Amino acid sequence: MEDEELEEYLFKVVIIGDSAVGKSNLLSRYARNEFNLHSKATIGVEFQTQSMEIDGKEVKAQIWDTAGQERFRAVTSAYYRGAVGALVVYDISRRTTFESVGRWLEELKTHNDKTVARILVGNKSDLENIRDISVEEAKSLAEEEGMFFMETSALNSTNVRTAFEMVIKEIY
Ligand code: GTP
Ligand code: MG
Repeated sequence: MEDEELEEYLFKVVIIGDSAVGKSNLLSRYARNEFNLHSKATIGVEFQTQSMEIDGKEVKAQIWDTAGQERFRAVTSAYYRGAVGALVVYDISRRTTFESVGRWLEELKTHNDKTVARILVGNKSDLENIRDISVEEAKSLAEEEGMFFMETSALNSTNVRTAFEMVIKEIY
């Protein structure tokens, strides 16, 4: 069965975090090199399949994006099912989004018994002038939780590819 063979190297990665931290724009920047200054809140679930080369082999990641807002979210268990990687995103200019990280990690744990490769992503690094979370503070949380850490900007593309590929390489 061709389909089943495909599944073996198709990894599911989920993006989670509060509303408006930039999850959808991180995905569109990574998958299509697009950014939208006026993007609407996600309703339900969207995903993109992205290929990359690791050790000369083609690896595909199916990257899932859902709403940060509870009322717009689809069935949670289906969203997390089979995920082997996760990007947990906050906005470096809004402390409340950083304070929610623990809750997102709990939800991930509840719905996924397997080991999930996780990266803490501080998005909107272009907003340095209104930064609310220092790199040190985020790094120490990431260390405590045993996650990778990276600051990104979907706006100016900084580290976006690196963040996704860090997780995908870890899974692989
Ligand atoms: P939900 O779908 O509601 O969960 O939100 P989301 O996390 O998908 O956020 P989205 O990608 O829609 O972005 C929210 C807002 O932040 C939009 O106005 C984006 O243009 C803006 N934004 C996203 N990434 C960046 C970034 O790196 N820098 C700046 N300055 N703005 C960003
Ligand atoms: Mg969205």
